[in-house]
Formats: sequence, structure tokens, C-alpha cells
Amino acid sequence: MIKAVRGTRDLLPPDTALWNFVENATRDVFRLYNYREIRTPIFEQTQLFARSVGEETDIVSKEMFTWEDRGRAESENTQSLTLRPEATAGIVRAYIEHDLNRTGLLQRLYMIGPMFRRERPQKGRYRQFFQIDAEVIGPPTAGSESPSVDAELLEMLATFLERIGITGCTLELNSVGCANDRPKYNEALRAALAKDLDKMCEDCRRRAVTNPLRVLDCKVPEDQPIIAKLPRMLDYLDESCRQHFQAVRDLLAAVNVPYVVNARLVRGLDYYTRTAFEFTHGALGAQNAILGGGRYDGLSESLGGPKAPGIGFAIGEDRLVLALSKTAEELSTPPDAYIAPLGAGMDREAARLARELRKRGIVVELGDESFRLKKSLETASKIGARYAVIVGENEVKANAFALKNLATGAQVTVPRAELADKIRQ
Ligand code: HAM
Repeated sequence: MIKAVRGTRDLLPPDTALWNFVENATRDVFRLYNYREIRTPIFEQTQLFARSVGEETDIVSKEMFTWEDRGRAESENTQSLTLRPEATAGIVRAYIEHDLNRTGLLQRLYMIGPMFRRERPQKGRYRQFFQIDAEVIGPPTAGSESPSVDAELLEMLATFLERIGITGCTLELNSVGCANDRPKYNEALRAALAKDLDKMCEDCRRRAVTNPLRVLDCKVPEDQPIIAKLPRMLDYLDESCRQHFQAVRDLLAAVNVPYVVNARLVRGLDYYTRTAFEFTHGALGAQNAILGGGRYDGLSESLGGPKAPGIGFAIGEDRLVLALSKTAEELSTPPDAYIAPLGAGMDREAARLARELRKRGIVVELGDESFRLKKSLETASKIGARYAVIVGENEVKANAFALKNLATGAQVTVPRAELADKIRQ
């Protein structure tokens, strides 16, 4: 038997009701902050991710699904393509490609869709997973660098999580500095690493030279005592980054969004500057980051675009659904009525009636004239319908139908014109 590929999974009903609940709440809450939807392709040129997420990151160096795509014609060059491992790079590419900077306004964008990373699958970690991603990007004149943008985005996340009933999340906040202070910090890291480097893993030894910040991201247990003693970025922030971070903290306090500063928080992607954050959740075990994000003030320029600072986040929708306290059954809506055609020729009448009821907003499942009444009523109960409507020859002649309440067993005859209202009651 052919099975779903390792690390991918089928989302089946009734569980999809949980996903719909989360996505509907996303659209409702994000709308209140004037976010609008963007949809970008599922695959992009490999270069895009290498240049934005960073060659040295685990994502780009180990986890991407990449292939060489041959052009159809002999003359076309092959190009390297990659299934998107995250959404920010594609959104910023689209921002540049469609010159959204020309509006002079902040673009508040969101996207819901699948991402792909070749990670070792476990609970909460899949090779195809879903993200709810949001980005705020714009020219500096639109206020895109302002700490109030950061604070508003974090407040929106707190509101969203509360709205869907997720409690017990911690907002972990850090500042990872900017192009101005990063070189000094990198030097400090290299100096601190120099004496212990021979005890560290191969990746760390290489990264200490190429991109020392990535050492902080190392997961190898033996390296952790060394990493714990390394200098903290927060101590190397220049004055403008320090003030920016303080302003974000003040605004969060003003809107009552609790957080903890985690000076060890480095995100697994290279484009971040200044504010970086994660929301972690205790109930999720090892994969406890329910979402992560931060600022990327230089990303657009590094991709050849205009100066367009931004900040964003991505929620791991799979993990969010795991953390929900609501159950799929609670959120599933059974049909209002099951229509039971009784006897030869009644399928046509039942179909007509179903169409009328659905036009009035009644959720209807249609039976089949070959079923005996007993089977129809059993089916109606199994699917959780509140009512069965019996459509037999006598009912059609009288233009009034037997309406059976499946919870109480009570049955009444209702004229056609009153049926929808009666079912809705
Ligand atoms: P990220 O931290 O790589 O950030 O991913 C965001 C979230 O996606 C994680 O916190 C986690 O919940 C979920 N996630 C990541 N990998 C997996 C996986 N293999 N299985 C299930 N869930 C996963 C980004 O992707 C950035 N683009 C976020 C961002 C947007 N920064 C600025 N704007």
C-alpha cells in the first residue's frame, strides 16, 4: 500500500474543524489590525532562501527540498528551485518585485500555507507543516522602523492567542542588534570562542569563522556549557538599538503584554536585526516554540530591493492546534437535517426540497430512495442531524412533510413553506 511520505500527514475531519477555527480567528483578529492577505508561490529560486535565511543556517544547509529544474527547451538553462521552508523571503521578494514601496505606506500582510523542511519528524515537527505568517514592511518614512510597530505586532499576537483560548504561553524577547553593532559582537564571540573551539562540534568550529552568531543556535549537548558562558548581544547594542529595545519594552508594559527577556534567544534565520522573539508553550514538549519572529531591517536591500525595514512572525499552525484546549467535536457542526426519500421516484422530490432548504441556509444531507426508513433514520442519527425530514408520496401530495426530532423522537407534520423556520428553531 502506498502511504503518505514520512513527515507529511493527512488532516482529516473532524480535526480539520480545529484548523478552520484557528484560520477563521486569524482572519478576524488580523483584520482588526488592517492586515491583508498575500499568497506567494510554494516554490522559489533556491538563491532567494540562501541569500535571506542564510547559507550557514540549518534550514538552508541541511533542510531544504531542492531540485534542479530542467528547462523544456534545450536552450533553457537549468535552475535550482526549492520548496519554501518559510514565508518571509517570498513575501519580501514579492514586495520588491511589485514595487510595493512606491505606495509610501506600511504594508501589513499575512499568509497561511504549507512550508517544507527536511527535519527529523517527531511530535510537533513535520516535513510539511503549516505557518500563519504576518509581515509589516514599508519605507522608513512610513514609520516601519518604529518600536510601536514591534509592540503592536506582539500585542496582536497576545490578543490572537487569548481569543483562541491558548493560555500558558510565554513571550520571550531579545534584541539581536544591527549591522552597526554586530561586527563588534562577532569579534567578542570569536575571541571568547577561541580557547574552547577545539572542544566544540564541527559546525560550531566552522561557524565561529563564517558566522559566529550561529554558534548560539547549536543544539549539541556537549557544546552547551561553552555556549552558556559566551557574551550576550544585549551588552553590545549600540545606543540606537538599546533605545529601540527599551521603547518596545515600555510599549508592551503600557498595553499589558507580559514578556521575559531571554538574552540567549537567537533565531535560526540570518535576516534578523533588533527585536527577536518567540512564544513558547509548556505543554508542547521539546518542540515548544509555537511561533517566532523578529525585525529584518536590511532584508529588502540584501535582496536588491529598496530600503524597506520590516518585522514579522510565523505561527506553527500544527503546534498551535496541538496546544488548543478545544476539541474537534466541540467545534464540529453537524447537519441540521437529513432528508429521507421514501420509495421509488422520491429522490427527485427530496432533491428539490433539499435545494429549497439549503437556499434558506439550512445544512442538509440527502438520503437515497433505495434506503428503508429504518436505515435512513439510523444514518440521520449517526451523522448527528437534529431532524429527519421524510419525503414520501403522501407528503408530496399534501405538500407537508413529516419532521422527526431525532433527540426526542417527536414527529410533526409541517407544511413545505414553514419547514425551514421550524428546523431553524
Ligand atoms: P521559524 O522560527 O523558523 O521562523 O518558524 C516559525 C514557527 O514555525 C516555529 O516557531 C514553529 O512553531 C513552526 N515550525 C518550524 N519548523 C517546523 C516543523 N518542522 N514542523 C512544525 N512546525 C514548525 C520563520 O519561519 C520565520 N519566517 C518567521 C518570521 C516571519 N520572521 C519574520 N517574519
